[in-house]
Amino acid sequence: MIVALTGAGISAEVGIPTFRGKGGLWNKEDPKELATLSAFLKDPVKVWKWYDWRRSLIKEKHPSEAHHLLARKKIPVITQNVDGLHQRAGSEQVVELHGNLWRVRCLNCSYKGWNYDTPLKEVPPKCPECGGLLRPDVVWFGEPLPEEAIRESLELLNYCSLMLVIGTSGSVYPASQLPYYAKERGAKLVEINPEETPLSPLMDLKIRKGATEGLKEFFSSYEL
Ligand code: APR
Repeated sequence: MIVALTGAGISAEVGIPTFRGKGGLWNKEDPKELATLSAFLKDPVKVWKWYDWRRSLIKEKHPSEAHHLLARKKIPVITQNVDGLHQRAGSEQVVELHGNLWRVRCLNCSYKGWNYDTPLKEVPPKCPECGGLLRPDVVWFGEPLPEEAIRESLELLNYCSLMLVIGTSGSVYPASQLPYYAKERGAKLVEINPEETPLSPLMDLKIRKGATEGLKEFFSSYEL
């Protein structure tokens, strides 16, 4: 079975900034100030304003052709992205390793729900159940990945004969370990990325193109 592991690069083609490399968000912002629990607790307004901006940006974008290609081919996706574009493209099996920025959860009670307001009605948004502080339901640096996401990813990779590694710098643990896990179980690895990454030496095939062109080349060469 083919499985895709995707990162910010697959959404870069539709104008959603990546985190690293040219135009990357972390070139301009300090992730420790915006993508950690301590930063959020120190200044929830600042963090929510940043997410409000990202949500507003993402809401007006549409999935790239690459998202649609994976959906049409019914290729299960393990994604580091939180933008929800794989689901909007029609992918039915999407494992979100880092959560989803359209989902919120309460710091005070067990409330978790969808919030698509752009802009947010209030900053920071409050829990509809208890009035507590809501946070984005995403994984911040230093936080564990959702157990269910890890379990589902490893389950998929136990049946993976080929992993398409698309648009990720391979720089964030533990997502970056998944290609090693797949390879150890005999999978072939294909990297689709205009740039070299720390994962490149692992690859059986490197397509130095953007996600859409690279996937089209891959599918045409392998009649899939
Ligand atoms: N097509 C394919 N890949 C592309 C494209 C494109 N059009 N444009 C850029 N890329 C590649 C870049 O070369 C880079 O290797 O996408 C990668 C983006 O890397 P990152 O910005 O580091 O994104 P990602 O690997 O998804 O980051 C992982 O880091 O900050 C955390 O939680 C955040 O999920 C994110 C994680």
